[in-house]
Amino acid sequence: MPSLVPTPSTAAAALLDDLRALRRGAEPLPGLEPGSYARDHAAFEELSDQRGLIADHLVGRLAGIEEGPVSVLSVGCGDGSLDVRIAEALLRTMPGRPVRYVGIEPWSDSAERFTDTMAALGAGTLSVDVHVTSFADAPVDETFDVVMFVHSIYYVVDVGKALMAARELLRPGGELWVLVAPRAALNALVDVLAPPLEEHRQWFSDDIENAFVDARVTVDEVVTLNAFVDLARASDEVLDFAVQARLTPELRGPVRAYLDAVSVPAADGCPRVPHPVDMFSTHGLS
Ligand SMILES: C[S@@+](CC[C@H](N)C(=O)[O-])C[C@H]1O[C@@H](n2cnc3c(N)ncnc32)[C@H](O)[C@@H]1O
Repeated sequence: MPSLVPTPSTAAAALLDDLRALRRGAEPLPGLEPGSYARDHAAFEELSDQRGLIADHLVGRLAGIEEGPVSVLSVGCGDGSLDVRIAEALLRTMPGRPVRYVGIEPWSDSAERFTDTMAALGAGTLSVDVHVTSFADAPVDETFDVVMFVHSIYYVVDVGKALMAARELLRPGGELWVLVAPRAALNALVDVLAPPLEEHRQWFSDDIENAFVDARVTVDEVVTLNAFVDLARASDEVLDFAVQARLTPELRGPVRAYLDAVSVPAADGCPRVPHPVDMFSTHGLS
C-alpha cells in the first residue's frame, strides 16, 4: 500500500475549501514554463531533504546487484542532479565495474545539463547517453537492470501503457522503480490549482497503484520516504513550482496560509511541510 494520507486539520481543510471557492469557474492557471522549470525545481529541492533520501535509498538498492555491469535508465532525468549522485556512488562503491547510465528527457536544455553533469564524473567505466524526447517516443534499443521514473510519471499521458513499456526495457531479473508523490497535504494544493497536463490530470500514488492493478502487474514493494520541505522560505517561483501552476498574486497569501496550517515541527523545531514520496518496485516480465 502507498503511504496513508493523513486527514488535514480542520483549519487546513477550511483554507483548502477557500482556495477551491476562489478557483471555482475560473480559467485554469498557467502551467510552469519549460525555460524556468529546472531552475525552480532545483530551488525547491534545496528546501527539502527528499532528494538526499531518494539518492541514499536508490544507491542502497543498486548495491544489491552483485556482479558484472550495472545499467540504469532514468526516465525524465531532468538536469541529472539526482542521477549524478547515483552514478557517482556506483562508480565509487563498485570500482572497475562497467556502469551504463541512460537518460530520457524531452527538454533539450535539461538533457544537455544531464550530459554535462554526468561528463564531470569522467569516462572510465561509465558510459552515458541521453535521448532528448518523451518516454513514449524514445528509441531505446537496449535493456537495463533498473528502469526508474523519479517524479516523472506525472507527465505521461497513459500510465498503464508507460508502465508496460518500461517493463519491456528490463533485463531478466531487472526492476522497475516508480517514485511518485502521494495525494498528501502538499498535493491537495496541486489538485486544486494545477492546470491539466496534456489533457490529463496530475497522477499521484493511488493512480500508479491502480494502473498496476489494472495491468495485473504484481508490485513487489512500496516504500515511503518521509521527507519534509521548508516552504516558509519559498520564493514566489518556488511556491509556483510546489503547486505546479503560476499563481496570481491574490492566491499566494491563501496558499501560504494553507502551507503554514499543514506544517509540522521538524527535528530542529522549525515548521516543515510533509513531502513524502512513494516508491513502487516491480520485476520485469521474466
Ligand atoms: C520533476 S522533474 C524530475 C527530474 C529528475 N528525475 C529528478 O528527480 O530530479 C520531471 C522531469 O520529467 C520530464 N518529463 C516531462 N514529460 C516527460 C515525458 N513524457 N517523458 C519523459 N520525461 C518527461 C520533465 O522535463 C522533467 O525534467
